[in-house]
Amino acid sequence: MRVTILGGGMITHDQILPSFYQLQRLGLIDEIVICARHDQTLRALDSSQLLRRAFPGQSFRSHVGQHGDLLNEAQPRNLSVIALPDHLHFDAVMAALDADQHVLVVKPLVMKLEEAEAIEREASRRALFVGVEYHKRFDDRSLLARRKYRAGDFGEFRLGAACLMEKWYYRHSNFQNWCTTENSDAFAYIGCHYVDLVHFITGLLPVNVSVYGVKDEYPNGNEGFLWTDARVIWSNGACLNVQNSLSFPDDAPGTNAQGLTLYCSGPTNGALIRHSDQYRGIEHVYTARPEVPGGTIYAEPSPDYFQYVDLGNNGLTPVGYGYRSIEYLLHCCLRVESASDRRQTIRDIDREGIAATPANSRYNEQVIEAARQSILNGGSTVSIGSRK
Ligand SMILES: NC(=O)c1ccc[n+]([C@@H]2O[C@H](COP(=O)([O-])OP(=O)(O)OC[C@H]3O[C@@H](n4cnc5c(N)ncnc54)[C@H](O)[C@@H]3O)[C@@H](O)[C@H]2O)c1
Repeated sequence: MRVTILGGGMITHDQILPSFYQLQRLGLIDEIVICARHDQTLRALDSSQLLRRAFPGQSFRSHVGQHGDLLNEAQPRNLSVIALPDHLHFDAVMAALDADQHVLVVKPLVMKLEEAEAIEREASRRALFVGVEYHKRFDDRSLLARRKYRAGDFGEFRLGAACLMEKWYYRHSNFQNWCTTENSDAFAYIGCHYVDLVHFITGLLPVNVSVYGVKDEYPNGNEGFLWTDARVIWSNGACLNVQNSLSFPDDAPGTNAQGLTLYCSGPTNGALIRHSDQYRGIEHVYTARPEVPGGTIYAEPSPDYFQYVDLGNNGLTPVGYGYRSIEYLLHCCLRVESASDRRQTIRDIDREGIAATPANSRYNEQVIEAARQSILNGGSTVSIGSRK
């Protein structure tokens, strides 16, 4: 499969491109093409020291400008990856489907339910796979919690809290150009991960949401909801509080602060799932501050999301759930492509519920649509009408 990546920003550098380089190394994909509006974006990716060290001899083809022409030149039934700002996903996914491409899209899929439904219809009509890249699903701790919850080991989720605070320096990145009050917010950008995980683990569906956002100014003067506090009520009456921000001190250890606690009730006792998702038991103290944004002398690196290890192949090998997530979604495309009944295979993947798809994770779009309405109205409660 040829892989066309739209967008060459942070997530493309940190996770998507190295994952596809590894899959290319394994012979599972052919050419990689990346499309960005500016030549400098592609040059920065191409000259990344880390990527060069990890994948010597491998490269991508650059396309500067609009993605329409690029998609139209792709042979049908290859793969397009959408790694653009949140509010641009819908048009890009539809353009990729129109060019007969399978699609992998970074979360959130889109900002509105009706957009997700339109994507689902078009993909089904063309028997193409669309996967949403919620990589926390591929963290073994999530898969373990899911298996045990669904086996009844935790009883029923009642009350919980999650947080994901990104470092302050994110405010200086390209985020200030798009993660602004009118387009997105800290909850839509990162809170959606934990809403998705609560469903992934428990199978419960969200029924209403309220999000209170605090506006703040980016260095370029744009305004964003850079601090958010969300309350999500679930189909059994359970309540999840989700706090998000771009505020974690740059000098604090770890790349962010994040975690999830779910208090549950059994027949006669309480049960608990608690994940510290930033501190995974590793402490490093370096001789000098690493020259990367947010680098600290005392560090608590996560070995689990995305790291490179030296396995002696003259490069570095990516490991972690960030890689496994991309690998899994590529295998879904290959599974659909090689099936005698492609639509049935897509329905099988929807039903299995491991890969997030427009058909099996539309509660995410319902939450995001309601959350945007809520945050723009001072945190009012908005029903998402999914009670079952
Ligand atoms: N944890 C996660 O799952 C995770 C982490 C980071 C980003 N993401 C998602 O990935 C997507 C891209 O995020 P990123 O961190 O790579 O962002 P980024 O700002 O670093 O990169 C965005 C890319 O889109 C391009 N672009 C095209 N049109 C644009 C426009 N009108 N305004 C601004 N940029 C435009 C930019 O040039 C750049 O190549 C977002 O949807 C984000 O939510 C997910």
